[in-house]
Amino acid sequence: MNILVATTNPGKVKEYRHFFKDLSVTFLSLKDAGIDQEFEETGQTLAENSLGKASFYGDLSGEMTVADDTGLFVKALSEKPGVKSARYAKTDSLRMKKVLENLQNVPYNEREADFKVVISLYYSKTKFHKSFEGEIKGMIVDEERQVVQRGFGYDPIFYVPKAGKTFAEMTGPEKNALSHRGIAFKKLSHFLSQTLDKK
Ligand code: IMP
Repeated sequence: MNILVATTNPGKVKEYRHFFKDLSVTFLSLKDAGIDQEFEETGQTLAENSLGKASFYGDLSGEMTVADDTGLFVKALSEKPGVKSARYAKTDSLRMKKVLENLQNVPYNEREADFKVVISLYYSKTKFHKSFEGEIKGMIVDEERQVVQRGFGYDPIFYVPKAGKTFAEMTGPEKNALSHRGIAFKKLSHFLSQTLDKK
């Protein structure tokens, strides 16, 4: 079975291939499918954006398609940057700086944040769709903490109390074992293995 990963980020396609390496699924990139159209994320929720993306690229390609949308929801910032996490500022570094500046006078115990992801699976021929959610609770630290070349995005400022580390201080497998995406991946993996078993 082929599954198209609806993203322009090659790192994400690799992540899917790595996580689902034991399933008999071939993950295709948009490039593999010869698609260069861009989907504009205008939804008000992660679910709307991820399903919008999956159905847009699924209808274009005719392939079974997955798409995901992630957001960092910071309680003291009225749940911002939230659905607009990717557009909060121009670069990863400026986005983290903006969160830290906006939290400057907020004490540690009031810096709770949630990372949430929704992964949507869509098949254009039958219009089948299903979404898988993952969430992890953490705290925003007051400066970036990272081990060189680990993590991406907001990883250096997202601290997971039960691990005693930020996401950027964890190895890939350590992060996947507890992250929002790891949780959603496990749900998708369970669904795909059951579906493949029935074939
Ligand atoms: P997207 O939905 O994957 O495009 O992610 C939205 C925003 O959240 C982007 O700024 C990403 O860099 C960031 N992001 C997504 N997943 C993670 C993560 O696991 N750690 C840190 N930042 C993330």
